[in-house]
Amino acid sequence: MAMIAYKNPDIQVYVYDMNQNRINAWNDADYNLPIYEPGLVDVIKAVRGKNMFFTTEYEKNIQEADCIFVAVNTPTKHFGMGKGRAADMRFYESCARQIRATIKEGRKIIVEKSTVPTRTAETIATILNSNQNKAEGKEVVKFDILSNPEFLAEGTAVADLEKPDRVLIGGQNEEALNALADVYASWVPRERIITTNVWSSEMSKLVANFFLAQRISSINAISAICEASGANVAEVSKAIGTDSRIGPKFLNASVGFGGSCFQKDVLNLCYLAESYHLQEVADYCYQVIAMNNYQRRRFVERLVATMFGTITQKKITVFGFAFKKDTTDTRESSSIYICKQLLEERANVHIYDPKVTKPQILNDMKTMMNGNYDGDFSYPLNSHETQLVDKHLFVETDPMEAVRDSHAILIMTEWDEFKTYDYNKVFDLMQKPAYIFDGRRIMDIKQLSSIGFEVFAIGYSSQQSSPFL
Ligand code: UGA
Repeated sequence: MAMIAYKNPDIQVYVYDMNQNRINAWNDADYNLPIYEPGLVDVIKAVRGKNMFFTTEYEKNIQEADCIFVAVNTPTKHFGMGKGRAADMRFYESCARQIRATIKEGRKIIVEKSTVPTRTAETIATILNSNQNKAEGKEVVKFDILSNPEFLAEGTAVADLEKPDRVLIGGQNEEALNALADVYASWVPRERIITTNVWSSEMSKLVANFFLAQRISSINAISAICEASGANVAEVSKAIGTDSRIGPKFLNASVGFGGSCFQKDVLNLCYLAESYHLQEVADYCYQVIAMNNYQRRRFVERLVATMFGTITQKKITVFGFAFKKDTTDTRESSSIYICKQLLEERANVHIYDPKVTKPQILNDMKTMMNGNYDGDFSYPLNSHETQLVDKHLFVETDPMEAVRDSHAILIMTEWDEFKTYDYNKVFDLMQKPAYIFDGRRIMDIKQLSSIGFEVFAIGYSSQQSSPFL
């Protein structure tokens, strides 16, 4: 919305949220915004108070709007039918009901911005149009529903929005489609604005994330073979990525993908396939998630095996908690899953992240140890598991303190600063043998080995090459 306001000074953008604290944070006088995203603060500075406003005032703004973007979250359901796979649509539906109750006349374009299951637009249209006075044959309010999924990635959001590969708009009504296309056309070349029917647009969002996640799971599967066989997954990625049909992006082997989208959307696609009785399709899609879970487990298994079969009571330093660099977002971060396994082994886990706060880390870990109920503590706390966090988990603010007397460093997020530390000093501070397990492949293995570290990276084995080669 900030980018739309920035590129269209003549359009007034009102961002409504029922949460006053969140709106206050967006209105913060010193621009301490509630999320960290490179470049975002400059865009907000340029538009806030001019043609962009953050507000908790609902009725007036909704009534006056020509176009309403619905961008509430659609998390994976953790209960009931479709538990663990389907999207929880209750926030979405309640938005539709609220809009219907508020708007009494006129014509409005409703834009689905959240990632939603295919055919959601139809559900929304049914709710929105269910209050029309059909008996008198009058249509007092006309709603046009458009799907306009977002393809930006966190950490590069502003750049992605500035130069999107494409903008996708799905809908039936030509006039509404063109109205929204015009908003984007103020900075996106027309040929990059794709229009489709509404179902194709909804489906394309899920499929794009499925394909991206699938590439990561594929290269992660190969990373396991590389470790066993002596090949180096980075070299394999480079070699195959030069084939223009494959392409170089999203071939970085890692400790598993995280973030709020990939797992949720792939599971959503699985659920969709199941609901159409396409079990083979669902099973195929699910393997992307199964491989991601395996990669996380495998990382800790390798760690424990390398460290003489036990990490109990050993100090393990975790560098990085965010799901990727340049964001404070921790949703579905592999670091959370890895730390859970470390705690289950009764290791003493010391976490350092340059941006993620201590309350966030503690909340995430307690939620995870408590069965991952999305922070809903109305469920009975599993005291034993939660106690592991209290007793064995420490959040550090100084990386050098985090490594003091540590047995191993785990690189969980690819923050640039991890590459710049004085590793001679780090080596001196650590227990020996000093291990580094690089889950992101960002460290200089040769240099660290020459200092004396035992270095293990995803998809790489320091095995001696064959004497016959
Ligand atoms: C992803 C998609 O890339 C966006 O196009 C999409 O709009 C977004 O989801 C969404 O649906 O909202 P995002 O989750 O922000 O974006 O970040 P990515 O850069 O895709 O990274 C996701 C995860 O995959 C991260 O944990 C990252 O470290 C990991 N990853 C990425 C790898 O392990 N290897 C790679 O080669 C690339």
